Amino acid sequence: VAAAPMLGNAVADATPNVRRTVDFHGEHQAGISTAVQDRLFYGAFDLLGDDAGELRTLLQDWTVAAEKLTAGVPIGSPEPENSASPPVDTGEALGLVPAELTITVGVGRPVFVRPDGSDRMGLAARLPPPLVALPTFKGDVLDDFQSGGDISLQCCSNDPQIAFHAFHNLARIARGRAAVRWTQLGFGRTSTTTAGAATPRNLMGFKDGTNNIKSDDAKAMADFVWAGARDDPAWMHGGTYVVVRRIRMLLEAWDRTAIGEQERVIGRSKVIGAPNGSTREHATPNLEGTDPDGKLRIDTDAHIRLAAPSHNRGIRILRRGYSFSDGIDQRTAELDAGLFFIAYQRDPRSQFVPLQEQLSAGDALNEYIKHVGSGIFAVLPGVRPGEALGDPLFES
Ligand code: HEM
Repeated sequence: VAAAPMLGNAVADATPNVRRTVDFHGEHQAGISTAVQDRLFYGAFDLLGDDAGELRTLLQDWTVAAEKLTAGVPIGSPEPENSASPPVDTGEALGLVPAELTITVGVGRPVFVRPDGSDRMGLAARLPPPLVALPTFKGDVLDDFQSGGDISLQCCSNDPQIAFHAFHNLARIARGRAAVRWTQLGFGRTSTTTAGAATPRNLMGFKDGTNNIKSDDAKAMADFVWAGARDDPAWMHGGTYVVVRRIRMLLEAWDRTAIGEQERVIGRSKVIGAPNGSTREHATPNLEGTDPDGKLRIDTDAHIRLAAPSHNRGIRILRRGYSFSDGIDQRTAELDAGLFFIAYQRDPRSQFVPLQEQLSAGDALNEYIKHVGSGIFAVLPGVRPGEALGDPLFES
């Protein structure tokens, strides 16, 4: 495979969709502004020690492997000459194409400071101020085994086996240095991140992503997603912050809910996805519009009202979530299914946190959802060939 040109995460191949590779290199990591792929393998790792040097070599090893994985090249021999050696590449991607594989890595607050604020491994002075510990929001029922972690790893591809292979091999490289804390598989992307893409549907049956930031909107990406020159710390320049939330949908209750109520709760129509009071999906929601009886068409507690930028001092986020379905909840025999919410932003303190404060306090949707997992990570700046993920963190 020829070395991919420096395209800044552009899709580097004009062959059919499934064959395409996305350049690993660029100012920003791929997998954020990249047009959202169909499948997700997400997970968080805990470092086994408190050694910044070991974290650095792990990120270097991951960089070398990620360059190969995203180009569709095995990370080593799946069949070493010495038959007494285990395979280097585990092999399950042989014969498959990368299908736009992206690998996106972040670091959590516990890498910098312990819960009591003390320095964990000499990196406390590098803690990015936006990387806060998220407050407990109203209604949170977070499971520690689906939350937190030292390192985040997002693998997206249009082929689930490719996403699995990437995560599997990176986890293997980490063995002895970091252990997987939790994982989440996702399917059926729940947001569009590019103009012109049809809006997908979430598991409640509603179009999701209509009013998302589109990644080709450079101004919105600079204003709301990328940490830039004006942001502290300098080492995060080109990076971003991700908040993930495992949100269960209480589908049995939702499925019994009348369509009029479902559309009131969301503030949009089900089939077309038009804001209430309009007939077009992409019509701007009229938050003041009333019906002939003078009643607001988009109700006071409708999800799209409380999440709207005009309701939140202009706040926007880049949503890039996926649906999940993980068997049944043993206590209720209901599907353990919902939205694995992923939101990229420049500063969670002024974006996710106030937004979720609004939503957790008053969203009509709360009757039908439960936040059960949570994570926040500083997503490292992108790398150029010859550089490694995390270099600026250790060098600044
Ligand atoms: C299971 C939980 C959730 C479901 C089912 C859901 C569903 C939806 C739907 C159907 C829309 C309308 C279409 C669109 O513009 O994308 C929407 C919009 C939106 N949602 Fe959610 N959402 C959920 C959780 C959240 C959370 C946790 C946040 C942020 C804290 C959030 C933020 C937004 C924003 C910012 C918009 C766009 C509002 C606008 O500008 O009109 N959502 N969501």
